[in-house]
Amino acid sequence: MSQKLIVANWKMNGSVDKVVHDLSLYAQNNTTNKDNIVLALPSIYLSVAKTQYLLNTNIKVASQDVSIYNGSGAYTGEVSANLLKDSLVEYVLVGHSERRHVIGENDETLINKIKNVFTNGMTPIFCIGELLDAREDSSYLNVIENQLSKLSDVGNLSGLVIAYEPCWSIGTGKIPTLDEINEVVVFIHQYMQKHFEYAKISVLYGGSVTSQNASEILSVAGVDGVLVGGASLKPEDFTRICSYA
Ligand code: PGA
Repeated sequence: MSQKLIVANWKMNGSVDKVVHDLSLYAQNNTTNKDNIVLALPSIYLSVAKTQYLLNTNIKVASQDVSIYNGSGAYTGEVSANLLKDSLVEYVLVGHSERRHVIGENDETLINKIKNVFTNGMTPIFCIGELLDAREDSSYLNVIENQLSKLSDVGNLSGLVIAYEPCWSIGTGKIPTLDEINEVVVFIHQYMQKHFEYAKISVLYGGSVTSQNASEILSVAGVDGVLVGGASLKPEDFTRICSYA
């Protein structure tokens, strides 16, 4: 992938006022002209952001989650992939560490979600990464391999985006060295090529990305973009990160 992808993950933060404020600031900084920016806003803001504030811009929106149920039906509170598609969503985060470790989603759930996203013509951003103990006992590549191996149940993976987010780095300010990031993203690229050779995939890095470290992380070989949590809530910082890509 030539152009780096920058994905903002607002998590469960924001307000209507913040959407209006931040998106107008992006426009002033020419961020809206770029076509490699994706905003994972809380789902309640996606449609209004896309149809009112991002109209005539190239910015894309992502859902932070999707239902395991497809289509329509009696699933109170669920939002299916086809409802997201209908709301002009183009990307969906699947398997973010908080959904795996706080909400308790398992591999089977995540694979079903990826299938639903692909079936509806959107791009899944599959998040993987090791916990601190696996980093410390050097079993992290086994963890990554195990998470990637579940993709064999999906089918065609063309276009998939994988986000490598070491769980110990998310929201902590601790970040792997550039060599450590390179080791894992190259491992992911090689694994995907070996096992799913037809698949065109991109690999992002996520975990404590800031406007100070984004430029060097984006220059690491094998890094096709970044997934930004906390720093994406500060619009000046986020537009700076976007300016590096
Ligand atoms: P962070 O979060 O940038 O605040 O570490 C990243 C993420 O959770 O995707």
